[in-house]
Amino acid sequence: MRALVTGGTGRVGAAIADGLRAGGFSVLAAGSADGDLSAVPEARALVERAAAELGGLDLLVHAAGDGFEPKQVEDVTEVDWDAAFGVTARASFFLAQAAAPHLRESRGLIVFIEDVAAYQPWPSFAAHCAAKAAQAMLTRVLARALAPEVRVCGVVPGPVAVEPGQEERRAAETLLGRVGRPEDVADAVAYLVSASYATGTSLVVDGGRLLQSGSGPNP
Ligand SMILES: NC(=O)c1ccc[n+]([C@@H]2O[C@H](COP(=O)([O-])OP(=O)(O)OC[C@H]3O[C@@H](n4cnc5c(N)ncnc54)[C@H](OP(=O)(O)O)[C@@H]3O)[C@@H](O)[C@H]2O)c1
Repeated sequence: MRALVTGGTGRVGAAIADGLRAGGFSVLAAGSADGDLSAVPEARALVERAAAELGGLDLLVHAAGDGFEPKQVEDVTEVDWDAAFGVTARASFFLAQAAAPHLRESRGLIVFIEDVAAYQPWPSFAAHCAAKAAQAMLTRVLARALAPEVRVCGVVPGPVAVEPGQEERRAAETLLGRVGRPEDVADAVAYLVSASYATGTSLVVDGGRLLQSGSGPNP
């Protein structure tokens, strides 16, 4: 089995790549040095490179992310907006578009690494929330568009890799009272690989963050 993992040099993406390798996948784990995914030609080129190097593609995991910076609404710039939308929303679509022929051939799977921010309005992360909501819709739209050959699913992490010093506050935002680990997301991806009757759905792995009262960081 052959997988392209974007954000593969990041905290979550690296754990996903490791998990897939442990499960027998050949993996191209791509970082921003392998192409700026907010640029459509570079996103397309990365997919073609992965398919060429791996000899085809069974799985695309899009775990690259950018633009997760708290800012008041009045301070958000076009650059901030584009950083959030470029890697999260635009790249989700154009990576999937480029991967679709390869995945149709292999009857493969796309997994978008979403965020609870897609489902909760966080005032200090307006662009990030909006971009993640767009990505969550693409999970469903593309599941319809690429069926029946290609399944499209999401994983919705809560706090699994938090900034140093933030652990206690982020843990208190969950029902389980603790921060998760990137490996929790990797395990969810592995499950979705095996879940051959699942498409158009997102698996929430957030320690109960979505159900906890209060509405997110810096509400
Ligand atoms: N961390 C969490 O607790 C958490 C919670 C919920 C959701 N998520 C989601 O999980 C995903 C990964 O988060 P993370 O915490 O692992 O982030 P991270 O450690 O900051 O890693 C980000 C990854 O994205 C890549 N990247 C950034 N901009 C890019 C661009 N323009 N083109 C190509 N690649 C680019 C980075 O590459 P380089 O390092 O090579 O620059 C890196 O591999 C994101 O979608 C995030 O929203 C994370």
